[in-house]
Amino acid sequence: MCNNCLYLFTLLNRIKMKKTLLVTGGAGFIGSHVVRLFVNKYTEYTIVNLDNLTYAGNLENLIDIQGRSNYIFEKGDIVDKNFVNSLFAKYKFDGVIHLAAESHVDRSITNPLEFVKTNVLGTINLLESARNSWADKFSEKLFYHISTDEVYGSLGAEGLFLETTSYDPQSPYSASKASSDHFVRSYGNTYGLPFVISNCSNNYGPNQFPEKLIPLFIHNIKQSNDLPVYGDGKFTRDWLYVIDHAIAIDLIFHKGRKQETYNIGGFNEWQNIDLINELCDQMDKALGNSPKTSKELISFVKDRPGHDKRYAIDASKIHTELGWSPSVKFEEGLEKTISWYLENDHWLENVTSGEYQKYYEKQYR
Ligand code: NAD
Ligand code: DAU
Repeated sequence: MCNNCLYLFTLLNRIKMKKTLLVTGGAGFIGSHVVRLFVNKYTEYTIVNLDNLTYAGNLENLIDIQGRSNYIFEKGDIVDKNFVNSLFAKYKFDGVIHLAAESHVDRSITNPLEFVKTNVLGTINLLESARNSWADKFSEKLFYHISTDEVYGSLGAEGLFLETTSYDPQSPYSASKASSDHFVRSYGNTYGLPFVISNCSNNYGPNQFPEKLIPLFIHNIKQSNDLPVYGDGKFTRDWLYVIDHAIAIDLIFHKGRKQETYNIGGFNEWQNIDLINELCDQMDKALGNSPKTSKELISFVKDRPGHDKRYAIDASKIHTELGWSPSVKFEEGLEKTISWYLENDHWLENVTSGEYQKYYEKQYR
């Protein structure tokens, strides 16, 4: 190929590769890692982060990419249909990665309606905007819905969740996520909207709001506060480092088969009490405490109503089809997470002032 032809070929390819993507919930825990990965890796894309900045959304999570030419932040509510429509008209998105949600099970028990609004109505608004604005160009578009393994319900001592496992959500949170998954599939089936869904297990890592088990317990140990273990502590979760989830999302978005579901998990099951003991040991080491100092803070409290006993994911489909596996071992991921929280005191202080105190009082006292 002559030099001019090569230049033209490269230029055309670059133009073809240009995409404008909407990421919802990009200021939250997982969303901020996804936005960072895409902004850094796909400099030819424009990433529009739509987030309402609820208590869980924090622009400090993205301070390192603020001001990048391929990154735009839009503050807004996915429940506001007109606003969502206006964004689709303004940016002509090529794809959506939908993470915005109310995500904490305990909050869904005290305020289920909020979960219906954001997780169900918000998702339908995005689906409607996508359906209407993409009408005659479906084949080039993709609606990627980020979901959870909790939609499958609770397992006994044996077995794993497969993509074909029947839905059996047990909490208002998981019921709202299951409902949103059903709506996404119904838009695929009824209107032919190209979609993909992934259902992931428990994430941990930097920037997680300290209402979820691991960051809450790190924060409480720092403050020498009780560690409230629900019930007998013998509930099992599968844990995945958040950056491994972001990598899986990238792969599924670019290489996943349309109209398919992918389970994502860490092959890493822990009973809560064993995980808490490991966390206490690592915290004692990191803080220079004498052994067992943190364990003395453990306090068994009233169980979460309707508490799911065990989640465990079979992630062999994403492994076989897309070559994905978790890259970070749990003990290493936990160490990185602890270091991040200890080095980012100001982040923890900012998010635990004000409203957080009221939430904590209501939830635990
Ligand atoms: P998060 O609570 O940390 O973040 C949610 C983000 O959504 C926040 O930035 C918040 O401001 C934003 N948001 C909430 N309501 C909004 C609205 N009405 N309009 C616009 N933005 C809104 O949640 P997360 O833990 O990062 O979870 C992200 C997604 O991944 C959720 O859909 C969740 O169901 C799913 N998921 C989470 C986990 C996990 O372990 N955290 C595991 C599997 C799946
Ligand atoms: O499985 C994926 C899901 O994981 C995500 O969809 C949710 O958004 C995410 O919040 C998470 O749900 P869990 O309910 O499993 O996470 P949480 O961190 O709230 O609790 C983990 C386990 O620890 C659970 O068995 C309850 C227990 N727990 C939690 C808290 C906050 C306690 O024992 N004490 C606590 O104070």
